[in-house]
Amino acid sequence: MDRNLALELVRVTEAAALACGRWVGKGDKEAADGAATDAMRRMLETLNINGTVVIGEGEMDEAPMLYIGEKLGSEDAATKVDIAVDPLEGTSICAKGMSGSIATITLAPEGSFLHAPDMYMDKIVVGPAACGAIDINATPTTNIKRIAEAKGCYIEDLTAVILDRPRHEKTIRELRQSGARIQLISDGDVAPAIAAAVEGSGVDMLMGIGGAPEGVLAAAALKSMGGEMQARLIFMNQNERDRARDMGIEDFDKVYSAEEMARGDVVFAATGVTNGDLLKGIRYFSGGAETHSVVMRSKSRTVRFIEARHHFDFKPVF
Ligand code: FBP
Repeated sequence: MDRNLALELVRVTEAAALACGRWVGKGDKEAADGAATDAMRRMLETLNINGTVVIGEGEMDEAPMLYIGEKLGSEDAATKVDIAVDPLEGTSICAKGMSGSIATITLAPEGSFLHAPDMYMDKIVVGPAACGAIDINATPTTNIKRIAEAKGCYIEDLTAVILDRPRHEKTIRELRQSGARIQLISDGDVAPAIAAAVEGSGVDMLMGIGGAPEGVLAAAALKSMGGEMQARLIFMNQNERDRARDMGIEDFDKVYSAEEMARGDVVFAATGVTNGDLLKGIRYFSGGAETHSVVMRSKSRTVRFIEARHHFDFKPVF
């Protein structure tokens, strides 16, 4: 895959973040998501790719754009790619002006991504220093002990991020009893999954059940960061099993690694909308705004953090 595509992707997430940046704190998550989706799609059309959305805003009949199966770019382009997007990851936190929302996208050669239906996924993610220490089938206590051993630190020094949901009550209680520090988040588990792989981010692990599409996006990023992720789909009913089967999933109990969710040469980009552990949010100045993004390519494992200043008078698209 063309290495410059990774850098082009930053423009895509910057555009999405700048568009929904106007909606931060306005209490309208649909409008924020719509603005991000619209901007992301327009920018994607400028790329020299022959792309298909495999993880997007929903099925064709429920999403006006960036729906699963939508073709983007040009059929004549040599680069045939699959696209996974979340134009605004953390719609509610953006609408409330809370921290941790991002615009994100990942691209890989056709057939590389797990076609994850919009359902739940159990996830555990750590950075490079704790690779080999985690087991999604083990208890939270066992995992946290092994991570502390691998990192050579006290359990009390570790921070686990987990979505603040009733379904995690038992896990949270157990982690607290183990002595670990816990950061509960109201939404948005992609950014903390990536942050777990960034030394010094303050996040040591992400744990718990969140969205499956978000799991694939996190896996794509993890491939460049060198961390480890294990995940398993959570089926709530027969309908979800049927949908998963339609999307090519046969083993419902399978534990997926990051590589199994995002195979081969993957490029990933994200831009902060509101401030978070991984990325700063949009910061406005007179006549423009600054963005903070991360872009990575699994083949070279190059991870770039990019700060950009955008001048609205010279960039009418915003
Ligand atoms: P949005 O769809 O509003 O962006 O929310 C995303 C998210 O918080 C993910 O980060 C997370 O994986 C999932 O939703 C959790 O789902 P639920 O809110 O149903 O627990």
